[in-house]
Amino acid sequence: MVDPFDLVIFGGTGDLAARKLLPAMYHRHCAGQLPAGSRIVALGRKDLGREGYLAAVSDKSRKLITDKYLDDERWHEFVERIDYVQLDASSDEGFSRLTEHLRDSPERIRIFYLSTSPDLFAGICQRLANSGLARANSRVVLEKPLGRDLKSADKINACVESVFGEDQIYRIDHYLGKEAVQNLLALRFGNSIFEPLWSHGKIRDVQITLAEKLGVEGRGEFYDATGTLRDMVQNHLMQLLCIVAMEPPISMNADNVRDEKLKVIRSLEPFTPESVITNVVRGQYQPGNVDGSTVPGYLEEPGIAPGSQTETFVALKARINNWRWSGVPFYLRTGKRMHKQVSEVVINFYGLPHSIFPQSMGADVANRLYIRLQPQEAIELHLMAKQAGDHNTLKPVKLDLDLAGLDVRHLDAYERLLMDVARGNQTLFVRRDELNAAWQWVEPIMNTWQALDKAPDAYDAGTPGPAAARELVVRDGREWI
Ligand code: BG6
Repeated sequence: MVDPFDLVIFGGTGDLAARKLLPAMYHRHCAGQLPAGSRIVALGRKDLGREGYLAAVSDKSRKLITDKYLDDERWHEFVERIDYVQLDASSDEGFSRLTEHLRDSPERIRIFYLSTSPDLFAGICQRLANSGLARANSRVVLEKPLGRDLKSADKINACVESVFGEDQIYRIDHYLGKEAVQNLLALRFGNSIFEPLWSHGKIRDVQITLAEKLGVEGRGEFYDATGTLRDMVQNHLMQLLCIVAMEPPISMNADNVRDEKLKVIRSLEPFTPESVITNVVRGQYQPGNVDGSTVPGYLEEPGIAPGSQTETFVALKARINNWRWSGVPFYLRTGKRMHKQVSEVVINFYGLPHSIFPQSMGADVANRLYIRLQPQEAIELHLMAKQAGDHNTLKPVKLDLDLAGLDVRHLDAYERLLMDVARGNQTLFVRRDELNAAWQWVEPIMNTWQALDKAPDAYDAGTPGPAAARELVVRDGREWI
């Protein structure tokens, strides 16, 4: 059992709080993991009062809890833990109210969850310090994207670090909290059979796809100022790449794991303006059809600046210049309004050096390992097997570790991560040097796009992205899986 803690949410009336943080805490409450007396204090600018706040968020939060787990009695018990304090994060005023609210039990663990624009992070931390709320037992959680580039991220981190030690700072990337990502760690480092296969001699290429059917979903303004590179590539895609490519850490201790991820990012071949043009594809969706419904193009979405060049799709080819991965392309792609809703890592192994089975019998399919994060969590190893019968026909089969099929409820990423903050475990959070190295790697892409001042490649909503994304792999003799 963790020690009692308070979760204080800046941006308490926002989407993340209602859709992710409250449902996550409800589930942990039901699992008996929240100690008696642990509270949730939501903060927002409006004068809602506790009842008004609960009325504003309850429906949204409850909708995100599957019927099977939504129990009215448990829900009422759970909301007893929730309080609301009116506070404008950009002024001093509300902080005295917050201090007053948290006056009892000052020794308790306090988690300050900053689910606001990163521009406010430095000011919030400073005000927490001025109010005496930044104590040794305080922890601060920073949502992504942290900054817009290396310089702004560095500035924010320096301010946050003038108040909190690195061991109190939890930079969240919710992909690291996904069960399938931790299963990838288990697969790689809890088994001996994969290690001899996990390198350039056996792996032909790696593909990581985070494809969404959704568009910008009412977040037009945020999205237009951010774009896919900052929203998905610099964090989620790069973190997945690190977990696939890292060396075995000496333990699961936070710094040991983060040291290895950092080494991967530092080994990534830096982009030049020329390689950005040849190896990075930038797209923007046009009107189209998703699941039988006509949907507007990005430029017609609310909150998008006329003629915006913000990208909603990125595909790129990366190389990791180290002993293990020399010569192995890592193809990454992610986009909104694509043809499918899928998050997965595909490891493509080399085909047979020599086949004794005629190709017509299907013997030419190379082995492949899928780590599926969404829509269903699963790990599948695709192999060839003999078809039953009196001839030697091979057929592809899969060894399937269907994680969703296991008879236990799978924790949402935020459940795991929030409890890790409460436990003080930073293994699944991003360290400052890692974050800096990730910004450094994507900066030439941002700079080249800015210098080119060219509209992104168009793609119709409901398709796999611009033609250039296919070209990126086809010219290497590959296909996106
Ligand atoms: C968020 C991005 O970090 O991740 C969103 O800001 C994106 O734009 C979301 O939709 C995807 O997360 P998941 O867990 O639904 O794949």
